[in-house]
Amino acid sequence: MTSDRIDGIAPHGGQLINRIANHAQRLEFLDKADFLPRVQLDERAVSDLQMIAIGAFSPLTGFMAQADYQSVVDNMRLSNGLPWSIPITLSVSEEVAAPLKEGSLVRLDDKSDRFIGVLELSQKYRYDKIREAVSVYRTDDEAHPGVAVVYNQGEVNLAGSIWLLHRDPHPLFPDYQIDPAKSRELFREKGWRTVVGFQTRNPIHRAHEYIIKCALEIVDGLFLHPLVGVTKSDDISAEVRMQCYKLMLEFYFPESRVILAINPASMRYAGPREAIFHALIRKNYGCTHFIVGRDHAGVGDYYGTYDAQHIFDEFEPKELGIMPLKFEHAFYCKRTLQMATTKTSPSRPEERIHLSGTKVREMLRRGELPPPEFSRPEVAAELAKAMNITQYEI
Ligand code: ADX
Repeated sequence: MTSDRIDGIAPHGGQLINRIANHAQRLEFLDKADFLPRVQLDERAVSDLQMIAIGAFSPLTGFMAQADYQSVVDNMRLSNGLPWSIPITLSVSEEVAAPLKEGSLVRLDDKSDRFIGVLELSQKYRYDKIREAVSVYRTDDEAHPGVAVVYNQGEVNLAGSIWLLHRDPHPLFPDYQIDPAKSRELFREKGWRTVVGFQTRNPIHRAHEYIIKCALEIVDGLFLHPLVGVTKSDDISAEVRMQCYKLMLEFYFPESRVILAINPASMRYAGPREAIFHALIRKNYGCTHFIVGRDHAGVGDYYGTYDAQHIFDEFEPKELGIMPLKFEHAFYCKRTLQMATTKTSPSRPEERIHLSGTKVREMLRRGELPPPEFSRPEVAAELAKAMNITQYEI
């Protein structure tokens, strides 16, 4: 076997983008810092900036210009035809945009006024929020958390390539910050030719474990890739979730087959469109396969249970370049005493224990713990600790 046989899949668009400033660029930017116009980024924009810089959003080198933006909103493709399902924009108010000159550099600061990046401003444009909401989120309802962000953000998009000044270690999970260049290297070192990526924003439960393990039966390795960027306020915190993933790996998975890493992206809750987006991100990390289960990246009842799977049929497999592994709604089957789906279990509906992340969050808020058919006891105990449910012991 020659090493070039396990070089992995190509990043989206063919090249892994790196927009982290090198030493010389950094010095140059720092020199100019006090003279550049400033734009302050919210948490989501900071996360987008990082995702672009590390190549997780390859082939994007910056925030989208109007042609790409409109094409993504209307056709789920960049203006060059490459599939892309979520607009990546930097939206600011008219007042912030007005003094900024196209063709100049803009200093990007985080919430605490720290200089974190530079935008090579190429274009400023207004956009239609309702059109974006309806196309991307399939609803104009302001109660949808992704739509609410669009409605509350500024009216002008600033476009252009970016540079990230420093790639700082993640403040909470430095050991799990594995950027795309690194994950690709790790997969190569391990000799994994096929790797399945798993997106999650919830504490890991047994349906997750079941579909992950089904997938792992047919590929070489698992890239367990929980999202740790901005989520809705009622989602369980990333710290608690990471503890749960670590416990799950310690007790229920072979160490040699799994890499746990954080996905610094923010949730959009765009259901089907976000499933495509999540798959392309994992392709950039070097995954060959991607799990799409029930109501992937959904919220409320805005999307049909399997819409996030059907949307993959709108593309040619080779233009996406990562294979979706689609799973039906998994449950604990009381008849066969194991996890299953209707594809594998003869059970009647009343013999199935169905729980969702949402239901578990509700139970935890009421001070109840998920049953063993839903959660592994070590994970349930961790959730109990986090929710201060003291009477629970495993
Ligand atoms: S998501 O917003 O990241 O999709 P979550 O962490 O709950 O939320 O789901 C992670 C992945 O597991 C998604 O692909 C989702 O479709 C899948 N999934 C979650 N619960 C189930 C289930 N009971 N049966 C099948 N797939 C599921």
